[in-house]
Amino acid sequence: MLVSGAGTNLQALLDACADPAYGAEVVAVGADRDGIEGLARAEHAGVPTFVHRVKDHASREEWDAALTATCLDYRPDVVVLAGFMKLTGTTFLAEFGGRCVNTHPALSPSFPGMRGPAEALEYGVKVTGATLFVVDAGVDTGPIVAQVAVPVEDDDDVDALHERIKVAERAMLVDTVGRMAREGFTITDRKVRLGPPAR
Ligand code: GRF
Repeated sequence: MLVSGAGTNLQALLDACADPAYGAEVVAVGADRDGIEGLARAEHAGVPTFVHRVKDHASREEWDAALTATCLDYRPDVVVLAGFMKLTGTTFLAEFGGRCVNTHPALSPSFPGMRGPAEALEYGVKVTGATLFVVDAGVDTGPIVAQVAVPVEDDDDVDALHERIKVAERAMLVDTVGRMAREGFTITDRKVRLGPPAR
């Protein structure tokens, strides 16, 4: 998993993975910055961690290559981005395209980017939510794996709305990643289907 912040989505997956019946394991947690709660959560769970900061590399491309190489060292089946605040690059996508998912706090294709909850409030939508999608070269544009709807309340501010979204987002992430691990998934013409390949 790759994280940049509080890591509550990571924690939800770590908790789920404690049950062998869940069918998945977090093999490592990487970050683009030091000292974040997400890394502490991984260490507490005994999961290996690593950090690649963009500023420690000569270019964004070299950062992306280093991140990719370290991820490969851990041989993940799937890379889960959860609150990872960097766009991965071409090297990463060449290795992990089609098996890297990210979670976004809005109902795609609405409100892509860093301000999903704020833009939902500004627009005045009554329902927003969270989206789990397969990472592609765009910003929150990849094939959708799962979505969950969350109501917007009249007195919401951005923090209250984002917290309500995150409760639903964590449940969706745990449910969907577990199914991906146990049942497999296929992507055909942007359509993601959970379960074994159709025969
Ligand atoms: C999540 O809402 C994620 O979708 C967004 O940032 C939040 C990260 O939360 N990009 P956490 O670090 O997992 O608590």
